[in-house]
Amino acid sequence: VYCCCCCLPTAGQATGTAANMLALATVTPPYGVVYSPAGSHAASDECNAPESAMSGAKFIAVPSPDGKVDPASLDEMITNNREASEKYFHSLPTTISITNVTEAGTVYSAAETAAIGAVSKKHGLVLHLDGARFGNAVAAAGCSPAELTWKAGVDVMSFGCTKNGAMAAEAVVFFNRSLVGDFRYRYKRAGQLWCKMRYLSAQIEGYLANDCWIKNASHANGE
Ligand SMILES: Cc1ncc(COP(=O)(O)O)c(C=O)c1O
Repeated sequence: VYCCCCCLPTAGQATGTAANMLALATVTPPYGVVYSPAGSHAASDECNAPESAMSGAKFIAVPSPDGKVDPASLDEMITNNREASEKYFHSLPTTISITNVTEAGTVYSAAETAAIGAVSKKHGLVLHLDGARFGNAVAAAGCSPAELTWKAGVDVMSFGCTKNGAMAAEAVVFFNRSLVGDFRYRYKRAGQLWCKMRYLSAQIEGYLANDCWIKNASHANGE
């Protein structure tokens, strides 16, 4: 499935949990680590769905004042964990997961996202963005969706539409096409490929057309 507006590999899900679980499992091996805030939805509020799909990979909490990952702490933790993992006794740092809007209601700017993107690139990790409220983040940050994602080093995003006007329509967007891998098999195996998918997907076309998603989000943000 390709996104109608950006031609990126995209697949729809009915829940944000399914989007996170499938995105993270596709880019994280069973011996990997996902760095995220302790209170991230994926780590704390999804009843271990991502862990279950990742078959053993685990979350490690990164100091995250106001819900935002601190890039310096992240860098240090990955450096230490990477050294340890070279002995094959420890998990391998593979993935970072941030949320924008965060679970604390704060918003990463493009520069803040890029600072985490730089750490991710430095260590060769994959940067996942939980965008359950991404429209609200774009509206609040006042920059383009690209500046908050691929231009800042985000590789894959769980793009939420349900919390901003759609009904049971979420998408996983791979900005880094080389990471798509076996996503489609995981997607079907998880029961997320609805036989009337077009009815769910059509919502996303309407959601994106004429900046409907940004208008809804600005209204919800009280702007
Ligand atoms: C940040 C964040 N990510 C993911 C989800 C998961 O969405 P769903 O309830 O559709 O599984 C939520 C839901 O509240 C959320 O707040």
